[in-house]
Amino acid sequence: MIGEGFEKGEDLSRGRYVQSIAHISKSMKRNLSMNNHDYPAVKPFLRWAGGKSKLVKTLVDFVPPSNSYDRYFEPFVGAGALFFHIGPSKAVLSDLNTDLINCYQQVAKHPEEVWNLLQVHREFNNKEYYYHIRSQKPEELKPIEQAARFIYLNKAAFNGIYRVNRQGVFNVPYGPSFKGPALPKKSLLEAVSDLLGRANLLAADYQEVCESAKRDDFIYLDPPYPPTNGTACFTHYTADRFNWDDQREVSKVFRNLDRKGCLVMMSNSDRKEIRSMFQGYYMQRLNVTRWLGSNGDRFKVHEIVVTNYNPREVRNGDQ
Ligand SMILES: C[S@@+](CC[C@H](N)C(=O)[O-])C[C@H]1O[C@@H](n2cnc3c(N)ncnc32)[C@H](O)[C@@H]1O
Repeated sequence: MIGEGFEKGEDLSRGRYVQSIAHISKSMKRNLSMNNHDYPAVKPFLRWAGGKSKLVKTLVDFVPPSNSYDRYFEPFVGAGALFFHIGPSKAVLSDLNTDLINCYQQVAKHPEEVWNLLQVHREFNNKEYYYHIRSQKPEELKPIEQAARFIYLNKAAFNGIYRVNRQGVFNVPYGPSFKGPALPKKSLLEAVSDLLGRANLLAADYQEVCESAKRDDFIYLDPPYPPTNGTACFTHYTADRFNWDDQREVSKVFRNLDRKGCLVMMSNSDRKEIRSMFQGYYMQRLNVTRWLGSNGDRFKVHEIVVTNYNPREVRNGDQ
């Protein structure tokens, strides 16, 4: 399995000594050869810029088996492609986007009610209705209505982009489609609700959440991509933009988690600046390219996966 992942890409630091492996506890090492799925894989129900749904089958080869770690952390959860694929039994999911986390909380607690509200959006959907719903102030709606609005806008918006302006207001235009917005089926929301119900869902900065991680937890970091050109950011998930200083901060958090004895994995774009921030760790370039951006301004990026463990050894249980 992991062999396939390695053959697909170029291993940038194979064979390097990774100091962090010494921190991985004996109990972790004992249980390293089981599969890494606790529950059947579920597809993400949201579309998300930078989402990993198309990459997840490759990424999963880098994830340690579920019985080798205690809790699964995803502090930049977005649409949660890896989380929904693995279905870990104990998870902490967080994101700075409060509307996203409210949506998860509501779907976790009331999948059927959210689905009922989505049927109303489905029935009335057209351009005028979309702009009417977009103009609503979420804080004036009930949390469950906010969740249904969030899903509807996500699915009816142009390209399914989630983008806010500097005031934090969602500003994506309508994306007409022949079949109408691809709203999730009731069965999908129920499956998602089961998985989210086992997770601790937090609207918080990733640094705060990572501080609460303990030895033997597994943390998957998937920060926004670095600016592609000067300071231009293409992924405006929140009013705050993620710049190069933020990327450096992520590398410090990664090192802290490593020192604590956590298993850490990060996805990012393969840029020389990123590689130099993570020197000494295992890096794997994935043989996939992604197009980032919108409005015709698109950039091709290669993906990299950085881990503080040798993924091949972790999968084979021979550390
Ligand atoms: C690349 S996306 C994650 C995609 C996700 N892995 C998926 O499969 O959909 C990055 C996420 O980081 C979130 N984010 C940005 N700054 C953050 C911060 N300081 N703390 C926590 N989350 C943040 C964004 O809202 C966005 O959802």
